[in-house]
Amino acid sequence: MFEGQSIRVSALTTPGVYELCFDRQGEAINKFDNRTVAELDQATRWLAAQPDLKGVLVSSAKDVFIVGADITEFGQKFNKPAEQIAADVAQSNLTFVAFEDLPVPTVLAINGYALGGGLEMALTASVRVMATTAQVGVPEVKLGLFPGFGGTVRLSRVASPAVAADWVASGRPAKADAALAAGVVDAVVPPEALRETALDWLRRAMAGEVDWAARQQRKRVPVPLSAAELKAVFDAAREKATRQTPPHQPAARMALDMMEHAATLDRAGALAQEARVFGEVARTQAGVSLVQTFLNEQALKKLFKRHDARAQHGRAAVLGAGIMGGGIAYTSALRGVPVRMKDIHQAALDLGMAEADKLLGRQVQAGRLSEEKAATVRSAITPQLDEAGFDQVDCVVEAIVENLGVKRQVLAALEERVAPGTVIASNTSSLRIDDIAQPLKRPDTFVGMHFFNPVPLMPLVEVIQGSRTSEAAVSTAVGYAVAMGKTPIVVKDCPGFLVNRVLTAYMRGFLQLVADGANFEAVDRVMEAFGWPMGPAYLEDVVGMDTGSHVSDVISAGYPERMPRLEHDALRLMASEGRFGQKNGRGFYRYEPDPKGKPRRSTAPEAHELLKRIQPKGQHSFSDAEIVDRMMLPMVIEAAHALQDGVVATAAELDMAMLLGIGFPAYAGGPLKWADWIGLGDIVARCDRLRHLGPAYEPTARMREMAARGERFHPL
Ligand SMILES: NC(=O)c1ccc[n+]([C@@H]2O[C@H](COP(=O)([O-])OP(=O)(O)OC[C@H]3O[C@@H](n4cnc5c(N)ncnc54)[C@H](O)[C@@H]3O)[C@@H](O)[C@H]2O)c1
Repeated sequence: MFEGQSIRVSALTTPGVYELCFDRQGEAINKFDNRTVAELDQATRWLAAQPDLKGVLVSSAKDVFIVGADITEFGQKFNKPAEQIAADVAQSNLTFVAFEDLPVPTVLAINGYALGGGLEMALTASVRVMATTAQVGVPEVKLGLFPGFGGTVRLSRVASPAVAADWVASGRPAKADAALAAGVVDAVVPPEALRETALDWLRRAMAGEVDWAARQQRKRVPVPLSAAELKAVFDAAREKATRQTPPHQPAARMALDMMEHAATLDRAGALAQEARVFGEVARTQAGVSLVQTFLNEQALKKLFKRHDARAQHGRAAVLGAGIMGGGIAYTSALRGVPVRMKDIHQAALDLGMAEADKLLGRQVQAGRLSEEKAATVRSAITPQLDEAGFDQVDCVVEAIVENLGVKRQVLAALEERVAPGTVIASNTSSLRIDDIAQPLKRPDTFVGMHFFNPVPLMPLVEVIQGSRTSEAAVSTAVGYAVAMGKTPIVVKDCPGFLVNRVLTAYMRGFLQLVADGANFEAVDRVMEAFGWPMGPAYLEDVVGMDTGSHVSDVISAGYPERMPRLEHDALRLMASEGRFGQKNGRGFYRYEPDPKGKPRRSTAPEAHELLKRIQPKGQHSFSDAEIVDRMMLPMVIEAAHALQDGVVATAAELDMAMLLGIGFPAYAGGPLKWADWIGLGDIVARCDRLRHLGPAYEPTARMREMAARGERFHPL
């Protein structure tokens, strides 16, 4: 008997047959951390030393098989040069090879998720039997990586290079039938028959009825395809990956290039290739940043659990059935929190319900929702002109007109209609929570919940804690947002809160570039090439020039020393000329509906002409690098200020808010992670080169200290 903390090996009743069982002590799941790999090594040696060894069954005592590597270890594992990472991976591979080379048949029962390292382990066995309810896959590409425990090598040989290319490059998990059809597993059976079926395969293999040795041998030799055949497979996979991969995420491409070459090598050669290129991919910006984002998400989930313990969000209400209120009510109902929706106009309620019907209809059409479920969701929204039932809800989200006087008046009246413990949340985008709270009798139950438009699609909610907001009210807002499937980030009350404040610093970089003579289309091209979903001019058109200009004014007033009112402001000019952006078809660009009714963008020569009015020094061409610095550095500096001011508690939350709120490019991980990647020393030096542009380019004192000490915002 071998007994580790994650692996146990015991003898079964048939002499010479042993079971290696993954059963991580004290946890609900199995994962591959350093200790488990070490135990696998010991367990394999132990098995090899059994004189009567005839066969091995591999199983899991959890609901899952193995969910993958322990990503919390990645920080320490990847904080090394690529060659060292490759050497470490190659060392771990020896363990998997030793298990694969046991001189007896090995049958592995996949009872639940076998992802990443879990599937890689499964591929070392001679036979895989899978439960109908299980799923397998190699999702590493989503972390900017690819499998590094021999997964690319063995998938190519057990299934085929085409399957391996598809699975590795997409990261998509497969259900049992698909895994069987792809040749990744040998049999699929209902969960209750899994163990018996696996044991039966083992008996047959031991009896010579299954040529297990030939199956293992296939994994030790090159893939039996010609160079031309391999090229055809991998060219097609590269073409698909190029189409489907977000910008600047090279993992899929690196994996495919490596796999094409590795397919021509024997196992040792192929594994060495995989390890070498894995070392490189782990040190790419996307690899480092996406792993950090995963860790950020884990940290957030822990926080949410803490809030949820004291949150109340069983029933909710929304005030205002407009764009935002309608979206909030729909999302709440869809996620199972019944909601009352009040407006002062029947027409607005009708419009809100019609919008919900449209969205539900689309879900039904796409097969994501049954007719019955759609009807249940619809009936969970109660449109009403009065406050009936408001005394029964845990949380009311106010989404009425953005006017301080009106909000104060309406909320003070609302306070009288709800129970004393009910949390009132304002969806204000630009007013201060403390200002709105001024006339309230219970400011402790008042909080901000800043949703983004369109609510059903946008994952972020800023939960704003005013100076008098209680922790319990914050928890209820966080809990309600999580229940709606959103990611809430708690921020302190300040002008622009977090996201618009940091975004405005970036946008002002743009406005200053335009005032200094830059061609906005060139700026859009550079920033889109940087990885933004849309360049700043295009983004302002989508937001609307009047809205953008208003936000900019609010923030200028809030941070006059760093972001004073701009003398030459393209947004103000555009708005004053009635160029409001996409909403009226004219902004930085022109928009006309395409055959499907979607706005099609084209260049607007008159916009360039108009901007000459605010370009006192005429036009000027900027290098791509200067455009990037002039846009990105003020954003990093403002993010650093927000973190130092305690607007947000951690760098992880700050970067997550920017990723989710404004589509900060995923490969760069958020403004602070981007700064970490460049290195704070370099960031500060670049800021100093642009100091003539004003205080928006002055790094914080803390940034200078961090640069001098070689520190980073994030640990990874
Ligand atoms: N539109 C956005 O992109 C966006 C994004 C984030 C936050 N917000 C904020 O959300 C709030 C609402 O914005 P919107 O775009 O949904 O506005 P909207 O004009 O589409 O909707 C407001 C609705 O509130 C109703 N209303 C007005 N007074 C009311 C009252 N006393 N009781 C109940 N209903 C009342 C109106 O009839 C209207 O239907 C604003 O504070 C806005 O700043 C908007």
